Amino acid sequence: MTPAPETIVLDRREQAESDLAGEIAALVRERGRIVLGLATGDTPTGLYRELARLRREKLLDCSRVVAFGLDEYLGLEPDDPRTFAGWIREKVLELLGIPEGSRHVPATDVPGDLTDVERCAAYERSIRDAGGIDLQILGIGRNGHIAFNEPPSTGDSRTRVVQLHPWTREDAAPVFGGLANVPTRAITMGIATILDAKRIRVLAFGSRKAAIVARALGGPIGPEVPASFLRGHADLRIWLDREAARELHSGRPVRP
Ligand code: F6R
Repeated sequence: MTPAPETIVLDRREQAESDLAGEIAALVRERGRIVLGLATGDTPTGLYRELARLRREKLLDCSRVVAFGLDEYLGLEPDDPRTFAGWIREKVLELLGIPEGSRHVPATDVPGDLTDVERCAAYERSIRDAGGIDLQILGIGRNGHIAFNEPPSTGDSRTRVVQLHPWTREDAAPVFGGLANVPTRAITMGIATILDAKRIRVLAFGSRKAAIVARALGGPIGPEVPASFLRGHADLRIWLDREAARELHSGRPVRP
């Protein structure tokens, strides 16, 4: 089983967070305006804290950064703090100083009385109109999902409404005070939408991710493990801590 050559295994997740924050800051310094794809969840929180630190120290200026969220629950009130839009606003957009007009999240992004299908198409259009995503940050779900592309999801999928997988709802249950309160549907960028990003940067930490990381990087590429489609991308880098990497077999480059 040979993982993608861009896989980096580190002792501590902070090293990965600092590597990726450094790459993002360098890209922003070089270009000024970049389009950043944002994941929510536990995985990228340290990265966002590190980016916020760089901004406080005047090493990062996000005033021309444009941000797109990956996904959103359906069925919550817009001001519900459990929406991903609320999470991203509090933990990323405000802390990084990304301007109001440059913040995009699926589901609520488009004003007016649109159907779900029209909303999804409009989100794809806004990404294209912004010039496409320069760097997409991703986590991986225990079932191999990326964004809310639950198994089975095809490689040509685009932004759409999906039913959430039982494991995804189970993982979200503590935040919602019980499984019965977790939304059953969501809007998500598709796999093809994600693969259009110029760079894809994936983080996976902890032993809960070990089995799926091994399947995503070493198993067959296909809809049953949506993250496996990432291996077809030309500019993919994956950071793992040792726990997440422990089911990968020999041949992986491990940074000293
Ligand atoms: C988040 C997202 C999900 C998470 C994944 C891992 O916007 O789309 O795919 O990246 O579920 O979640 P955590 O990081 O909480 O383990």
